[in-house]
Amino acid sequence: PNSQQQQLRQLYADAAALFQHILLNTKLGETALAYTQQRQLSPDLLETFNIGYAPDENNLLTRFFAEKKLDFNLLRHSGLFTENSDGTLRDRFVDRVMFPIKDGQGNVIAFSGRALTKRENQPKYLNSPETDLFNKRDVLFNFDLAKAEIRKAKQVVLFEGFMDVIAAYRAGIKYGVASMGTSLTNEQLYLLQRATEHLIVCYDGDQPGMKATNRVITLLHNDPRFQLSIVTLPEQLDPDEYVKKYGAERFRDVLTGGMETAVGFRLRYLKQDRNLDNEQDKLTYIDAALHELVNVSSAVERDIYLNRLSDSLQVTYEALVTQLQDYLVDAT
Ligand code: UTP
Ligand code: MN
Ligand code: MN
Ligand code: MN
Ligand code: MN
Repeated sequence: PNSQQQQLRQLYADAAALFQHILLNTKLGETALAYTQQRQLSPDLLETFNIGYAPDENNLLTRFFAEKKLDFNLLRHSGLFTENSDGTLRDRFVDRVMFPIKDGQGNVIAFSGRALTKRENQPKYLNSPETDLFNKRDVLFNFDLAKAEIRKAKQVVLFEGFMDVIAAYRAGIKYGVASMGTSLTNEQLYLLQRATEHLIVCYDGDQPGMKATNRVITLLHNDPRFQLSIVTLPEQLDPDEYVKKYGAERFRDVLTGGMETAVGFRLRYLKQDRNLDNEQDKLTYIDAALHELVNVSSAVERDIYLNRLSDSLQVTYEALVTQLQDYLVDAT
């Protein structure tokens, strides 16, 4: 690493330490600390994830670094500040709980700040821009801590958000990571591929979460590097909400025994928004479902799904098999 990168790394380490100090030890951080407690972030978890607080105080970070007489260009390109029209800098993160984003070695390379309260025209999470250190395509939240656990457990759980990863960690599932709101990149998959082949997707149980799950399935379709399992949480809950509502043990149960296959998920997903009492809808669904089964190479697995479809749709097994045979021939 060149010295510019080293300085940037130091800047981020200093900023993370300052944010955490403010959260844990100062009056400025009291409201935020209460917020983190309400979100069930114990002192241990705040420590483990180096969570902090950027206060609602004019340019605290700007003033903190000004005293250190650092190179202006370094500060300017750090991503920690935004530029005023007169060229001076001001803090980018104001009144936000700060989640450090770390590289694989545990160095802080970016932040995501969560707003304490809903404000109009303000994102719930504000992320650092890309910098010399931070390429968001390359990063998975918590990969630094999770990678050894992933190898041990021989699996990884992919979550949507920071709070989900942390809630899982609290519940004893330490092999979780998050792609931070973006769709999975090849770079992120490469990181995972080197650690395990079993990828469990546990996105939010709401509609956007299911849509995103469906996208991951499409992305990894026929990808020999991964074996996919899907967890869909009930009542539109996200993992953090689920742990809060049902407790750690039930969450662990779901994540160890409540998975389904990618095809199982897809058959369910395709059925949504269709009225199967309507003949046309029903035929369209059967057609789509059978096309899914074309890609299932195991005859036994295909049989299981065909039986399930036959039962739930009240179509004979034989008719489904005949139709599927046609599609199999089409596909060769
Ligand atoms: P969610 O909207 O599901 O938020 O976004 P969440 O993780 O449940 O947040 P809490 O529990 O309300 O605090 C999932 C993830 O998408 C990214 C974040 O990484 C978030 O954790 N995201 C979301 C953003 O980057 N920006 C946003 O404004 C919202
Ligand atoms: Mn979500
Ligand atoms: Mn969520
Ligand atoms: Mn949440
Ligand atoms: Mn067709």
